[in-house]
Amino acid sequence: MSSLPDPAYTKSSNFGQGENLLPDNNTFDKFQGSPDYVTSEALRNAVNVSIVLGRPLLIRGEPGTGKTLLAHSIARGLNKKLITWNIKSTTKAQEGLYVYDTVQRLNDSRFGDKDISDIKHYIKLGKLGQAFRATEQVVLLIDEIDKADIEFPNDLLNELDEMTFYIPETNETVAATHRPITVITSNAEKELPDAFLRRCIFHYIEFPTTELMEEIVRVHFPDIKEKLLRTALQAFYSLRQIDQLRKKPSTSELIDWLKVLIASGIAYEKVAAEIPFVGALLKKESDHDRFINQYHRLTDGFLKSGG
Ligand SMILES: Nc1ncnc2c1ncn2[C@@H]1O[C@H](COP(=O)(O)OP(=O)(O)O)[C@@H](O)[C@H]1O
Ligand SMILES: [Mg+2]
Repeated sequence: MSSLPDPAYTKSSNFGQGENLLPDNNTFDKFQGSPDYVTSEALRNAVNVSIVLGRPLLIRGEPGTGKTLLAHSIARGLNKKLITWNIKSTTKAQEGLYVYDTVQRLNDSRFGDKDISDIKHYIKLGKLGQAFRATEQVVLLIDEIDKADIEFPNDLLNELDEMTFYIPETNETVAATHRPITVITSNAEKELPDAFLRRCIFHYIEFPTTELMEEIVRVHFPDIKEKLLRTALQAFYSLRQIDQLRKKPSTSELIDWLKVLIASGIAYEKVAAEIPFVGALLKKESDHDRFINQYHRLTDGFLKSGG
């Protein structure tokens, strides 16, 4: 489990080339995971490389593979505050730095008795600004960067590189006293600009192997019955093999499904035979049809062998 020392994790496996860049050896393997989050060695290495080099960590992978949760885990594991910037299709890079609340200032000038001459009162730092200004190092999560338009990552290049920006309205420079540990997540489909990629440490979260998935499930359900766990995992991985699924169920769906299975007290024999509550796993109508047509053919062998 992630909280235990991993025997496979040795100093010699530390990203050979970077070794002479390290200020001292002890600073490298800082992140060892957290009890609520299962990591592979490769992922832990990527996190630690990003911390040592002070470069953003770009995490890609299918939805539900633990990209967002990783940032939470880093914050918890290293005991740091997490600042989350959720990106939407309308988000602009500038909002992450600061906004000048001119509307509030106008309102105050008309109706209030406040002193409006000090513009500083109307400068509201965005998430990046808050992360730079923090008195201690924080973890900054820029979540789902691919949702914004293509210009967005390019617009943040300088600020993320230099961890500083200028506010002309107040003639102030906001510079990070402690470079935040920056995690940027993106779903797999959309391409990001090369110049942006060049500045990041990259890691693709592979879909977990059954062994890793077992660990993940046990983090969520430490008391799960062995037979239920095995049958459910087998059914789940068979389901993912159905041809041309539009949305393959991922870890988060598996966790939801197991929650329902456990709550319903259903016998494990039924789980493989019927996939009860399949709606927790498949979210598209066409996927549901494919399931009806293909599932039994795919699982014939393991159903006959008794699940
Ligand atoms: N490595 C993991 N360890 C523990 N739980 C995980 C892991 N990966 C995924 N999960 C579960 O899946 C859910 C979805 O993860 P999330 O980080 O939201 O995925 P993503 O951001 O990649 O879409 C989490 O809330 C958690 O329940
Ligand atoms: Mg996410």
